[in-house]
Amino acid sequence: MAHLGLIGIGVMGAAFAQNLAEEGHSVSMLDRTIAKMQAVANEGKDLKGDLIVCADAQALIDSLPKPRSILVLVPAGGPLDSVIDMLIPMLDKGDLIADLGNSNYKNTQARVAKLEAVGLHFLGMGISGGAEGARHGPSIMAGGSKDSWARVKGPLQDAAAAFEGDPCCDWFGPGGSGHFIKMIHNGIEYGDMQQIAETYGIMRDGLGMKAGEIADVFKGWMKGPLNSYLIEIAGEVAAAVDPKTGGPVLDIILDKAGQKGTGRWSVIEALHLGTPASLMMAAVEARNISAAKDSRLEMEAAFGPSPEVMIGALGTRKAAIDALENAMIAAKVCAYVQGFEVLKRASDEFEWDLDLAAIARVWRAGCIIRSVFLDEISDVFDGGGSSNLALAPIFQQRLKDTMPDLQKVIVAGISHGQQVPALYGALGYHNMRRTGQSTANMIQGLRDYFGAHTFERVDDLGVAVNGPWHD
Ligand code: 3PG
Repeated sequence: MAHLGLIGIGVMGAAFAQNLAEEGHSVSMLDRTIAKMQAVANEGKDLKGDLIVCADAQALIDSLPKPRSILVLVPAGGPLDSVIDMLIPMLDKGDLIADLGNSNYKNTQARVAKLEAVGLHFLGMGISGGAEGARHGPSIMAGGSKDSWARVKGPLQDAAAAFEGDPCCDWFGPGGSGHFIKMIHNGIEYGDMQQIAETYGIMRDGLGMKAGEIADVFKGWMKGPLNSYLIEIAGEVAAAVDPKTGGPVLDIILDKAGQKGTGRWSVIEALHLGTPASLMMAAVEARNISAAKDSRLEMEAAFGPSPEVMIGALGTRKAAIDALENAMIAAKVCAYVQGFEVLKRASDEFEWDLDLAAIARVWRAGCIIRSVFLDEISDVFDGGGSSNLALAPIFQQRLKDTMPDLQKVIVAGISHGQQVPALYGALGYHNMRRTGQSTANMIQGLRDYFGAHTFERVDDLGVAVNGPWHD
């Protein structure tokens, strides 16, 4: 059984310490508030491993067997750097610091280099699953100093979620690769949530459905290919009743979405890498616009209310719900095609040699985007499928079966003022990707006309030429 250090006993840290102890591992805890650690230790006194309260960093370091492994779960950025800078002079060569927060992968790359330069190890690990996951089994995506992974792999895999006996916890590559994977996980999560919000909007505003009826639709979708944690909790959120008003909780939640940044980072990185990320982008933009409530109200007063009722536009209510389900399936396939292509491009660009099948496998349980769908994706990659999931027979067929409904939902939706940017992000992306002859010949012609940027002729590929514009 291992004995690890854990710095940062907030909600997540406390839950993770108890999870490790439940698996029989001992944890030396360090936090600014001793009382908080004592409460965590008391609560976990019957667990198999010990939960040790450390009064200060020296006590933590003295309590750990060498080489030491210290997990850190404090806010990313400044607070994390302060902890690292405090630990560096106190540690011995070969000791390990592992950051379990939502750090930007570039900062993780820099920290790996900084610590390796002084003989220490550093792992950047993305953890998904919220507080519940941290306590009972999160999904863990690690990257960084490979030599040190073997040391923490056992306890972390014990604490992680498992899918059919396989732990949802792995090391994926050097540098910031673990945090990059977690970032894209969150970008996909943003896209999944935006699609849910858009279909909820069509049901609420377009089809005039009550929250309870919408909850039943989400519950029904759990029986099909959309079966996932987010659809499950969408059903629960829609069904919940506010004790104060007796009405749906959804109706008393202010429509301004928050965000901590990982979705935005995903979009920025996808753009840097030159890979499409239209669903994540739509999701981030929708959150940004939602946050400007006053401006939306002002615009609504100027332009008139939107959206409008669209009962009948998609046939009967049953036909409309079936079309919405198919629309979400099509959009979801596109979102995952995009997500895995960003990962593949990053893997090539940064020479991480990421195993896409293994990534899909650790997302099958424990994390927020867990779904039946990810099991199918891991099967495709395990079977040697390319990073373009759209060409795998199972997803190719699914796209062929569901794209017509995605198109129908979008046409009906936008002609009634519904907001469907993520759904359209999927359709527009797929339509462009399946078009052999694009319109970029016009772009190239314009670029060459005004800037002499040159183009290739279709009958003489590989040769840069100019057009006859200015003769
Ligand atoms: C998290 O990391 O807590 C979530 O997965 C994403 O958070 P956000 O929606 O606040 O950005």
